[in-house]
Amino acid sequence: MPQLRYRTAGESHGKALIALVEGMPAGVTVDVNSINAELRRRQGGYGRGGRQRIEHDAVEVLSGVRRGKTIASPVVLQILNKDSRLDEAPPVTRPRPGHADLAGSIKWLTTDCRETLERASARETAARVAAGALSRCLLREFGIDVFGYVVSIGTAMSSVSFEEPLDELKRRRDASDVYCPDEAASEQMREQIRQAKAAGDTLGGLVEARVFGSPPGLGSCVHFDEKLDGRLAQAVMSIQAFKAVEIGLGRDVASLPGSQVHDEIGFDASRRDTPALGFTRKSNNAGGLEGGMTNGQPVVVRGAMKPISTLLQPLASVDLNTKEVTKAAYERSDVCAVPAASVIVENVVAFEIARAFVEKFGGDSITEVRANYDNFLRTARRLPL
Ligand SMILES: Cc1cc2nc3c(=O)[nH]c(=O)nc-3n(C[C@H](O)[C@H](O)[C@H](O)COP(=O)(O)O)c2cc1C
Repeated sequence: MPQLRYRTAGESHGKALIALVEGMPAGVTVDVNSINAELRRRQGGYGRGGRQRIEHDAVEVLSGVRRGKTIASPVVLQILNKDSRLDEAPPVTRPRPGHADLAGSIKWLTTDCRETLERASARETAARVAAGALSRCLLREFGIDVFGYVVSIGTAMSSVSFEEPLDELKRRRDASDVYCPDEAASEQMREQIRQAKAAGDTLGGLVEARVFGSPPGLGSCVHFDEKLDGRLAQAVMSIQAFKAVEIGLGRDVASLPGSQVHDEIGFDASRRDTPALGFTRKSNNAGGLEGGMTNGQPVVVRGAMKPISTLLQPLASVDLNTKEVTKAAYERSDVCAVPAASVIVENVVAFEIARAFVEKFGGDSITEVRANYDNFLRTARRLPL
């Protein structure tokens, strides 16, 4: 059975970013507009640098799609770089604390940090977002939706209630240039970014993705590398500048008693037809994951992004050629990329859910996947067999 997975290629100032996605079942309708909409969101957000004004990210589908549908062969998505000058870009010899510069230069035995930073750069996430957005074309067929937003920037913290309809939250998030549905908090986030920029400084923050409509049983408790919570954590932690990942209540579980952490189980026969099969919970502190498997409740994943390491007022560093203590290099950079990061988290989470979905219900074509999915839910509703 083909596994759904992807690789990316490309440098920040190379010719293009590429995502190669393997294992998409045949017959999935590929909505290129929805992929490009995610790429545009990734480029936006208050606090980004000049690069995003140069680029106009859009995918060209190079393979794997015929007449708008997948044909089971690998899908290659290409995003051309307008600012393409890999050979001309000057060497960087003063590594930035917090970037990949020093570790990579020593690893690859060079004093030109550019050879590392071109690939370490988060420009690569354009390809990850494209792959994630492609996988959502599959998830959409099964009513699975993912919503990402900014929880906090600096010390400005939002408060978002998921009792509200998702469409309304999406509308408010999309009206906010910091991608946060809480209008008052958006204003504070913007002000903190403005102040950081004026001080030549940078800011990080927290972002969250919620997956709605996922059936129980995705992932597995059998092996460590099959556990979906672990796989989601890896997908989010591997995003440039992410330093912590939480599921559901996250680190707060450590300080509360069990009675306040675990989500009591109920049953409502009138909701038997939902993906949760009628099982209800009084809370969702587990973030929809127990034993490394989805339990039918919304999956909740949060990630913490550190402040951007390229500072207009650079920190101390050492010139790799002369070993003189000096200031770190500066090149055009974001002040805050947390809004963009929320789009990346949303799409990498989507990909992991799609991967687990194909693992459980996989077939060569979407028709087969749908039959497997329907059969599973039908059988699960009949329990005990
Ligand atoms: C959307 C996004 C945009 C970023 N933009 C920049 C940037 O403009 N300048 C910068 O120095 N780092 C930026 N970063 C962070 C670096 O790519 C990251 O810190 C670096 O690759 C080192 O990896 P690490 O922080 O995970 O250790 C960005 C990260 C993300 C997710």
